[in-house]
Amino acid sequence: MLCVKLIIKFYQFVGKYKVRLGVFLFISTIAVVLETISPYWLKRMLVASELGNYSEVKIFLGLFGASLVMGNLVSAWALYLSDRILVPLSKEIRETVFQKVLELDFAYHVDKNTGSLISAFRRGDSAVFTLFFNLHNELYRVLINLLVTVYFLSTVSWGIAGILVTIFMMNLGLITWLVNKNLKTRTEFNQVEDEISGVITDGMINYETVKYFAAEKKERHRLKDKFIIWSVKLFKFGDSFRLMDVIIGTTSGLGIVLMLWMTVNQLDNGLSNGDMIMVAGFVTGFYYQFFNLFFRVRDIAKCLTDLQKYLGILDNEVIVKDPKRPVKIDKIKGKVEFMNIGFVYPKNKERVLDKINLNIKEGEQVAFVGRSGAGKTTLVKLLIRFYDPSEGTIKVGGINIKKINKSDLRKLMGVVPQEPILFNNTIKFNLSYGKPEATMEEIQIVAKRANILEFIEKLPKSWETEVGERGIKLSGGQKQRLAIARALLSDPKILIFDEATSSLDSESEKMIQEALKEVSKSRTVIIIAHRFSTIRDADKIVVLSNGNIVEVGKHDQLIKEKGIYEKLWTLQSKGKNIEEN
Ligand SMILES: Nc1ncnc2c1ncn2[C@@H]1O[C@H](COP(=O)(O)OP(=O)(O)OP(=O)(O)O)[C@@H](O)[C@H]1O
Ligand SMILES: [Mg+2]
Repeated sequence: MLCVKLIIKFYQFVGKYKVRLGVFLFISTIAVVLETISPYWLKRMLVASELGNYSEVKIFLGLFGASLVMGNLVSAWALYLSDRILVPLSKEIRETVFQKVLELDFAYHVDKNTGSLISAFRRGDSAVFTLFFNLHNELYRVLINLLVTVYFLSTVSWGIAGILVTIFMMNLGLITWLVNKNLKTRTEFNQVEDEISGVITDGMINYETVKYFAAEKKERHRLKDKFIIWSVKLFKFGDSFRLMDVIIGTTSGLGIVLMLWMTVNQLDNGLSNGDMIMVAGFVTGFYYQFFNLFFRVRDIAKCLTDLQKYLGILDNEVIVKDPKRPVKIDKIKGKVEFMNIGFVYPKNKERVLDKINLNIKEGEQVAFVGRSGAGKTTLVKLLIRFYDPSEGTIKVGGINIKKINKSDLRKLMGVVPQEPILFNNTIKFNLSYGKPEATMEEIQIVAKRANILEFIEKLPKSWETEVGERGIKLSGGQKQRLAIARALLSDPKILIFDEATSSLDSESEKMIQEALKEVSKSRTVIIIAHRFSTIRDADKIVVLSNGNIVEVGKHDQLIKEKGIYEKLWTLQSKGKNIEEN
C-alpha cells in the first residue's frame, strides 16, 4: 500500500513529462525489439544455408548485423531522451521538497535533525534517478524482451513459451517475497545511516563546544558506537542479497535447462535445427533477463525505501495555516491585543502561558520583563505566528492574526531575536535580507542607527565581509547590532527586540537606546529586556511570572508598588543579574 502511494506520488512528478516519456518509451520499444530478435535472424540464416540459398544467408546475416547495430544506436537515442526527463525531474522534486521544508512550521524545525534530513535528501535524490532508470529503461526492457521472446517461442512451441511465462511469473513471486524481506533490512539500515549523519552534523555545528570541553575523542566514540550498529545492519542488508542470488539463480537456471530439454526432446517430433538454434538463442538470452528483472526489482524496492522519507516530507501538514480568505492589511495600525491567551508547546504538557490579557496601543513602547523561562519569548512567537495559541485570540490593528496571511503579518514586524543567526554570506547580504532591493543609502542609514556603520566601513572588505557560518566571525554585540539594522531596514509597523541589548557594551547600548527612541516615534515597539536600564522610559512595563502577567505599569509606578519588578530592579541596581535570583 505504502509502495503504491509512493509510486503514485512519484508519477505525479513524472506526469509533467508525459509527452517526452511517451516518445522515449516508443523509441525504447524499437531498440529492445531490434536487440532481442537476433536469434530469429540466426534461424533464418541456418534454414537458408541448409537449403543452399547462400545469397539469402548473406541477406539475413546483414539483417542480423543491422539489428545489433541499429538496436545499439536506437538504445543510445532512447537513453539520451531519458536524460532529458530525468535531469529536470530530479531538479523539480528537489526544489519542491526543499520548498516544503521551508514552508513547514517552526515546530517542525524545532524537532527536525538537520543531519538526518540532509542524508534523507541525498539518498532520496539518488533514488529518483535509479527508480526512473529501473522502471523505464530496465524493467520496461525486460517486459518487451519477454513479449518478443514469447512471441517467437510460440511460433515453435506453445509448451516452451508457456514454461517461460510460468518460470517468469514464479520468479516474480519469489522476487517480491525476497525483496520484501530485503526492504525491512534496508529501512533499518537507513535509520542508522541517518543517525550517523545526525551525529556528524551535530559535531560539526557544535565544534565550539567540542573544543571547549576537549571532547574530540568523545565525539569520535559517539560515532564509533553508531558504526557498530551500522555494520551489523549493513551486513544484514548485504546477506539478504546473497540469499536472493542463490534462490533466483537456481530457479532460473533450472527453468532454462527444462526449456532446453523440452526443445531437444521435440527434435524427434519434426523440430528443425533452425528452430532449435532460435529457441536456444532466445531462452539463453532471456536467462540474463531473469537476473536483470531480479536486480531491477531489488533496486526499485531499495529506491522506494529511500524515497519514503524524502517524498514523505511532502506529507507533513502545515499546522499554523494561512486563512482561506485572508484579510488585506495595507493600512493596518500597529495596535496589538492579547486576549485571554493560553499556550502549551506541541507535544508538551506544561502550560507556558495562561490567561494573558494585554493591550498595546499604536505607537506605544512596551517592555516585557520577568525571570528566565517566564514566557516572554513565547509570547512574541505567538504574535508572529510561529505557533497558534492553545486558547484565546491575538489581534493586530483590530484584526485576528489568524485572518492575515503569515507572510503579510510577518512583514509588519521587524524582529531582533534573542540569539540572532546570520547566513554564511556577506554583511550586505545579511543586512538587506528582508529588503534585497534596498539602496546603499537606506542600508547605511539603518546601520548608523544600529551603531554598526563605523565598524562595517572600517573592515578591509567592508560590506562584502563574509560573516561565517551562523555569523561566527562577528562578536555577539556586532551580530545583535547587525540584526537590529536588518529589522529596521524594512521599516516595520511593529518592532520586536528580544534581549536586543543583552550583548551590547554600555556605550553601544546607550546609542541603541537613543536610536530606539527615535524609531519608536512612528511605530509600536515591544522590548524584552533583562537590563532594566533599557526600558526605564517605556510607556508600559509588563511583568511576566510563570506564564501570567503579574504587574503592568510605568517604571515609577511599579517601583512604588514594591512587587516583583521592584525586587528585580533593586537587585539589578546592586549590580546583580536577574537570572541569579
Ligand atoms: N520549542 C519549545 N518546546 C517546548 N518548550 C519550550 C520551547 N521553547 C521554550 N519552551 C519552554 O517554554 C518556557 C518559556 O520559554 P521562553 O523562551 O518564552 O522564556 P523567556 O521568558 O523568553 O526566558 P528568557 O528570559 O530566558 O529568554 C520555558 O520553560 C521553556 O523551557
Ligand atoms: Mg527569551
